[in-house]
Amino acid sequence: MILLGVNIDHCATLRQARYRDAGATTGGAVEPDPVTFALLAERAGADGITVHLREDRRHIQERDVWRLRECIGTRLNLEMACTPAMTELALKLKPEFVCLVPENRQEVTTEGGLDVTGNRERVRACVDALKAAGIQVSLFIDPDEPQIELSARLGAPYVELHTGAYAHAFHTARRAAELQRLRLGAVRAHDLGLIVNAGHGINYVNIAEVRTLPHLHELNIGHSIVSRAVFTGVEEAVREMKARIRG
Ligand code: PXP
Repeated sequence: MILLGVNIDHCATLRQARYRDAGATTGGAVEPDPVTFALLAERAGADGITVHLREDRRHIQERDVWRLRECIGTRLNLEMACTPAMTELALKLKPEFVCLVPENRQEVTTEGGLDVTGNRERVRACVDALKAAGIQVSLFIDPDEPQIELSARLGAPYVELHTGAYAHAFHTARRAAELQRLRLGAVRAHDLGLIVNAGHGINYVNIAEVRTLPHLHELNIGHSIVSRAVFTGVEEAVREMKARIRG
């Protein structure tokens, strides 16, 4: 069965829209609380909770990750940039998983995959340090052969294939080609012994195709679940996505 990691960043985006500078003066009434979101998601069957602690702290804050570390009952997947400062934090926090992602201050959300081939030594240092601390490491990469092969050579046990290009192409003529690119990427990664996750831009519609990709271990889904939760509540949104993943 394909697992579901629920990315709760955009619950924090909503909170920060109002409380970015007012957290200390609100008497505790800071809403919505991403930790509460995570606990409801778990109650509805989420297999893990994912957060991206960005360098610019635009949504998830450091305090959130420590509270999550304490409160959640599944597993914490920390998405982070491949930097010494973030590695140091991860070694203290000890999440079950770290997913290394690229970071660009100008982007609205994570855009391309991590360029493993262009940052080989930096990625290697990060992977080695995290693995030595018993943290499972995943590399968020585009489904391209050189990135996949180097990920395997650097000893990352997991890759997360970036589904963003496919999601963008969903209503265009490129959709089938992007799906095929993901399919080939998943097969190649699996053949090299990597465990295959996928994420970015997956929603309640395109999941019908995404779930057919071979060798999928886990999907990380955020924006569409948080968006649906506004109308249906968190538990229903998560249950519905789990049902669609099962098909
Ligand atoms: N996986 C990774 C590595 C991400 O950085 C993100 C968020 O950008 C997601 C999955 C979730 O993407 P979305 O919010 O589009 O579902």
